[in-house]
Amino acid sequence: MNARIGDNSAAERNKRPIFDALVEHLADARHVLEVGAGDATHARHALERLRDCIWQTSEAPGHYRRLVAALADRPEPRLPRPLSLDVRGQWPAGPFDAVFGANVAHIMDWAAVEALFAGAARVLRRDGRLCLYGPFLRRGEQPEPGNAAFDSALRDRDPAMGLREIEALDGLGEPLGLIRVADIAMPRDNRLLIWQQRGR
Ligand SMILES: C[S@@+](CC[C@H](N)C(=O)[O-])C[C@H]1O[C@@H](n2cnc3c(N)ncnc32)[C@H](O)[C@@H]1O
Repeated sequence: MNARIGDNSAAERNKRPIFDALVEHLADARHVLEVGAGDATHARHALERLRDCIWQTSEAPGHYRRLVAALADRPEPRLPRPLSLDVRGQWPAGPFDAVFGANVAHIMDWAAVEALFAGAARVLRRDGRLCLYGPFLRRGEQPEPGNAAFDSALRDRDPAMGLREIEALDGLGEPLGLIRVADIAMPRDNRLLIWQQRGR
């Protein structure tokens, strides 16, 4: 299985570069919602890097028990019990200072990606940030060879999955008030994309 589909060694490898880039953007964040939190590798690391932050993890119902089990060993007030959250369903009320997702946009089908943007736009406070890490495409540009191979492996597995164009994501965000403010190159041809809620 490709590491970016569900191998936690990928999360172990990418957690430091992600948070090296993220800390500056989330310096004033006190309440963050993570979608598709997997085995909580990023959440645990967030506690060390964002000392004043409550990091609310969540997972789709099918993977929820794994997340709960992953966090059962060490109760921590800044890491509350995970929420069962399919981004296409009911979201928590918020408000959150940020919504974070690592390697989720290419796994979700497009309707779920739309729901992710709509949900984030609703629960973010003004100037709150939607932060997505992973491999992305750029419209009209040849993808990096590794990303092209990963994209076709995903589409072979499920035609609804696949790397997303940054411009298409911007197009989802704009009418919702989510304006992209950062596009940061990360190791192994990944990116950290950040949109800010400017709509309220
Ligand atoms: C490749 S894993 C990434 C896990 C973790 N974020 C990481 O980086 O290790 C993709 C995650 O997206 C989640 N996911 C897929 N569809 C979802 C949906 N509709 N709502 C919420 N999460 C979803 C899956 O449950 C899975 O945990």
